[in-house]
Amino acid sequence: MLRLDQVTAGYDGVPVVGPITLDVTAGGVTVLLGANGAGKTTTLDAAAGLIPVMSGSIEFDGRPVTRLSAPRRARAGMCYALEGHRIFPEMTVQENLRLAASGQRRASRAVWDECFELFPILAERGEQRAGLLSGGEQQMLALGRALLGDPKVLILDEPSLGLAPKIIDQVYGAIRRLTGSGRTILLSEQNVGHALEIATSVNILERGSLAFTGPPDRLRDDDRLKAAYLG
Ligand SMILES: Nc1ncnc2c1ncn2[C@@H]1O[C@H](COP(=O)(O)OP(=O)(O)OP(=O)(O)O)[C@@H](O)[C@H]1O
Ligand SMILES: [Mg+2]
Repeated sequence: MLRLDQVTAGYDGVPVVGPITLDVTAGGVTVLLGANGAGKTTTLDAAAGLIPVMSGSIEFDGRPVTRLSAPRRARAGMCYALEGHRIFPEMTVQENLRLAASGQRRASRAVWDECFELFPILAERGEQRAGLLSGGEQQMLALGRALLGDPKVLILDEPSLGLAPKIIDQVYGAIRRLTGSGRTILLSEQNVGHALEIATSVNILERGSLAFTGPPDRLRDDDRLKAAYLG
């Protein structure tokens, strides 16, 4: 579905990630784990086209997208929910959703239904200013907005960041339901426990390089990684 092949990316000519090869399988949940500064956001930004790759190539949905702009990748079906749930706080929940749904890939009735089924709170609070939602509700709004792009792959950067444990459970419950309905997900996390519960494939970034790639069970076979990531 989405493949990064020997990709390096960085800033001001200095690579901070790579070369890494990352495969996102259709219908699966590909998890990118790593500590602060490991290069998770850089990797996702490169995948979504927010920063250029320095070398390597990216293929999405059967075609090369390495040189495609972020909006064109979005049009092709890549939806990216940035770290720290970006929403428009002065606009109402409805307005936030309508804006997301009016993009290049216009949301169908079915996608609106899917959105409100997953996040009933967004229907209930439709008229409320988005900035007044709780942190968890804002994260749901961010997920709802990404979903309304009807993504072939949904890219989420640390969806649990800054949220209380109970709210993280809710957000992950929603992500789990998204995968249940067949959506393909690539997500980064420092919150290992929640991510591993839904992962079909795990990639661990350490200082810009992949230290592990495989199914979550195999992580338990490696004593060093087990100690570092499973506690
Ligand atoms: N805009 C930027 N300009 C220069 N260096 C940057 C920029 N953004 C990130 N970096 C550097 O690149 C490295 C990787 O950062 P990145 O944000 O990808 O890590 P991360 O895994 O997402 O971390 P976190 O968990 O804190 O979000 C870090 O050393 C960081 O300082
Ligand atoms: Mg980050």
